[in-house]
Amino acid sequence: MSGVFEVQHPLIACHLTRLRDKTTPPSEFRQLVHRLASLLAYEATKDLRSESVAVQTPLTMAEGHRLSQRIGLIPILRAGLGMVDPVLELIPTAEVWHLGLYRDEVTAQPVRYYSKLPPGRPVDVALILDPMLATGGSAVDALGTLAEWGVPHVKLLSLIGSEEGVKRVETEFPNSQIYVCQIDPDLNNRKFIVPGLGDAGDRIFNTIVHD
Ligand code: PRP
Repeated sequence: MSGVFEVQHPLIACHLTRLRDKTTPPSEFRQLVHRLASLLAYEATKDLRSESVAVQTPLTMAEGHRLSQRIGLIPILRAGLGMVDPVLELIPTAEVWHLGLYRDEVTAQPVRYYSKLPPGRPVDVALILDPMLATGGSAVDALGTLAEWGVPHVKLLSLIGSEEGVKRVETEFPNSQIYVCQIDPDLNNRKFIVPGLGDAGDRIFNTIVHD
């Protein structure tokens, strides 16, 4: 089922507020990214397929389940790295395939610098991890790469999106699923999400350069 899912949950709303706060230090910012990524992944993985499996408990046999699809986590470097561990904690059997993209500061266009997807044998479900969906350029580029790889189901998990970015992804990849904690109304003249949270990569890795 394609579509945009802005996940409504009081824990998400509270953690997102701390994430936005400009006084939140990198150590707490990273923890908040973890919590929000877990909550978003819980919602985004509700339709994963599983198969029946029998399990021997200390008392008797019981019917259980195991995932029946190959799941790939696709963090977009750098900021997406902050979401890998919490999602891998939920899906320990997932494969992690990194995509390196940065946004040119002048043009705001994505620039590719790393991709090592193996030819053939695409995963069944890919979860793109990137805290920010601003113009949508990076997400569209990643979706295009995964389409070329042949992934049948792609879910984009972003902590925060912009209306413009969400619309762009929906238009260019109508079969994708977009999971966000909140969609903000604007982009400023530097293509930053407003009100947003600043630059997630810099806040995660403590690389804000002060004048
Ligand atoms: C940010 C963010 C997304 C992208 C979103 O990355 O993490 O990847 O920009 O913008 P878009 O929707 O307009 O493409 P950035 O280029 O700052 O790189 P970083 O993660 O290395 O900081």
